[in-house]
Amino acid sequence: GRKRSLEGKMVLITAGPTYEAIDPVRFIGNHSSGKMGYSLAEEAAERGAKVILVSGPSGMVVKHPSIELYRVTSAKEMMAKVFEFYEHTDIGIASAAVADYAPREVAKEKIKKKDEHLTIELVKNPDILKTMGEQKRHQFLVGFALETENEEENAQAKMQKKNLDMIVLNSLRDKGAGFRNDTNRIKIFTPAGKKEFALKSKEEVARDILDCIEAEILK
Ligand code: C5P
Repeated sequence: GRKRSLEGKMVLITAGPTYEAIDPVRFIGNHSSGKMGYSLAEEAAERGAKVILVSGPSGMVVKHPSIELYRVTSAKEMMAKVFEFYEHTDIGIASAAVADYAPREVAKEKIKKKDEHLTIELVKNPDILKTMGEQKRHQFLVGFALETENEEENAQAKMQKKNLDMIVLNSLRDKGAGFRNDTNRIKIFTPAGKKEFALKSKEEVARDILDCIEAEILK
């Protein structure tokens, strides 16, 4: 048995990609596996938390009985489900790779092949985590950042802009880190400082992240 250090806490986690419909058979999506979010959910449940996992389309499965899984498809559906539970959330972790844009309208019928060029107009999706930050009261909020340039500055700026208590920076430079991989190399920022970690399995990364959250909450 592990320490039940999150007993009595409600942890809300977003995971996976979102799919934004173009027509009845097509969508805009991304290669996020959902693995990081599902690993965080399992680890938080092991530590005694009640976990709400709001997941976009992912092949991952949930094992722990204390995890309530809600499957959603689009960013708007993810947003709606998250805010059903936000008020009662103690710790919010946004690990989903939410599509930034969605088609302005969903075609009712399958779009036919016709001209050489086809334009699909996209409109900005709601920023779920930013909205959580704006409505934050007692919640401890954690976001993820995946940057290609000025990564540390951008991650810290994102933490401020979204009113977060912690941000986890995924390294893209390391082979084996991030998207679609089973391993990840992270840096964790809080307003007070920075912590760097080695390349590890996403299960181990989940432990590091929850250790940091617990240390911050108990401060
Ligand atoms: O702004 P950016 O997409 O880089 O921020 C990444 C963080 O914000 C992640 O934690 C991600 O889950 C969250 N996010 C969100 N809703 C969006 C876009 C990002 O919750 N529409």
